[in-house]
Amino acid sequence: MCGIVGYIGTKEATPLLVDGLKKLEYRGYDSAGVAVLEQMQRRISVVKTVGKITNLEHKLAECMPKGCVGIGHTRWATHGRPSDVNSHPHQGCSADFAVVHNGIIENYLELKEWLVKERGHEFMSETDTEVFAHLLEEFYEGDIVNALRKTLSKVHGSYAVGVVAAQEPDKLVAARKDSPLIVGLGEGENFIASDIPALLNHTRDVWFVEDGEVVVLTKEGAAILDKHDHEVNRGVFHVDWDAEAAEKGGFEHFMLKEIFEQPEAFQKTLSGRIQEGKVRLDELNFTTEDVERWEKVFIVACGTAYHSGLIGKPLIEEFLHIPVEVDIASEFRYRNPLLNERTLAVFVSQSGETADTLAALREAKAKGATTLAITNVVGSSIAREADYTLFLWAGPEIAVASTKAYTAMLIAQYLLSVYLGQVKETIPEDKARAILEALRQLPEKAKQLLAQKELYQQLARDIRDAQSIFFIGRGYDYNLAMEGALKLKEISYIHAEAYAAGELKHGTLALITKETPVIALALQKNTYEKTLSNIMEVTARDAMVIGLAEEGDTEIAKWVSQAIYIPKIEDIVSPVLAVIPLQLLAYYTAVERGCNVDQPRNLAKSVTVE
Ligand code: F6R
Repeated sequence: MCGIVGYIGTKEATPLLVDGLKKLEYRGYDSAGVAVLEQMQRRISVVKTVGKITNLEHKLAECMPKGCVGIGHTRWATHGRPSDVNSHPHQGCSADFAVVHNGIIENYLELKEWLVKERGHEFMSETDTEVFAHLLEEFYEGDIVNALRKTLSKVHGSYAVGVVAAQEPDKLVAARKDSPLIVGLGEGENFIASDIPALLNHTRDVWFVEDGEVVVLTKEGAAILDKHDHEVNRGVFHVDWDAEAAEKGGFEHFMLKEIFEQPEAFQKTLSGRIQEGKVRLDELNFTTEDVERWEKVFIVACGTAYHSGLIGKPLIEEFLHIPVEVDIASEFRYRNPLLNERTLAVFVSQSGETADTLAALREAKAKGATTLAITNVVGSSIAREADYTLFLWAGPEIAVASTKAYTAMLIAQYLLSVYLGQVKETIPEDKARAILEALRQLPEKAKQLLAQKELYQQLARDIRDAQSIFFIGRGYDYNLAMEGALKLKEISYIHAEAYAAGELKHGTLALITKETPVIALALQKNTYEKTLSNIMEVTARDAMVIGLAEEGDTEIAKWVSQAIYIPKIEDIVSPVLAVIPLQLLAYYTAVERGCNVDQPRNLAKSVTVE
């Protein structure tokens, strides 16, 4: 998804902007560009290109714009294919303004027609964003903030925008609605960005900009203005991640680093939340009346976050004794779900910016449901709009494929379900105790699993040439199998499918041959024998089977080509550990196949379009 950076200060802007853009690469992009205000000449120089930031650096090496104010952008195409001319920044006819934009201007065609037909503007690109630059030009009367306000009043849709104007070389202005934007506060310099990693080399003090607000930066100061142009007194958020946390830190890829960060992430997600046998979630503070009022729970999310919800569902049903539905966010709104004040609607999202999840949250809120966000990103739209938020505290996740955020989402849902069960007094004490004890053991047990990486490298060599791979399991294992299949396909591009193990014989078994590896999860004791029979069904068709079982299971090794053992843990908590081998297998298979692990083709980290 698009990334924005902006700088105003006393240093050369171009290298700073390029550095910031590099830190936003994880968001996915297809082109990049910068606009720098050459203050003496009151001129804006734009350099932009399709492709990776290295392409931009090559162009900049030939003509580096000089100046201490500028904006930069990485684009992920929505309106208009990836091309040099469609890349941002965009300018109007006179080149007096430059604009970078993340989001979608929904009424751009109508505005473009008015600008072309009635006002004689000429357009260069196919983008919605270019309309923005022409509108600024149209409304500019010597005050860029006024021109920005007028422009914002004309556009419908979502935006985070950064703007520089040649006539006002001592200002950088910005605004947001439904797309992330932060301000970085420095000494004699200030910044805007889509996300914190872009700023960490320069400042740790940030403001989160809210919808409808306009930002005015000079090198000496920064102000956020509300829609009545009153200055907002926004609290400073001090980022205490070390710079390392947003970098690869010695690992070959962010994904591998993030897989290995899981023991620490587990610790953080759990931190302070289990006390004397009780779950303590201060940020929720639900009363017994609140919890008793709910007759139904929805869990709504996309992709990996949705998979975490599939595991959350049986937990909440068991501990709260009420039905739970799990929905894909992009489907949820369109089926008119039964939402009212007796519903708890839980929205799970690593980024907190996923457009479909945000839209579903708004729908639930409008219909009177209590909304609860589970997210990793402080200041994200979903976190800000939900009635309650449970943060994952997993640290920034850079690789497109989610790993540590998934396991943190699972832990958050174990905590939430036990917490709600304790508030309502519907979870048996011994059950709660067993789960909380299992959660406490997770960091140590995850470290044991991570120590066996050679095994997964070997297995990756065994499966790297497969055309298709099946993941099978029952109950929690089946829910986890879906995540294993998604992880493998998104980064290795091998077709992978998850099946409820008992369902294979109803059709899919026809696809099993000796060329089709099967990853079989057999961790749930209540269905163990049945899963074993399903494993026998596939071995009888000569499939190569990799079995995941609990340490001490001597039976499974007789039926599979390779057994992977998970440290003993309470059955229902086992997905948090069992996903680690699946993540590593996907990772090493992608590496074996020479894929771009951190930025798989066609995918973006944060999906802010519906
Ligand atoms: C897959 C993956 C995606 C995301 C999905 C939702 O590895 O990361 O499927 O889970 O795009 O993203 P968030 O959690 O940011 O809402």
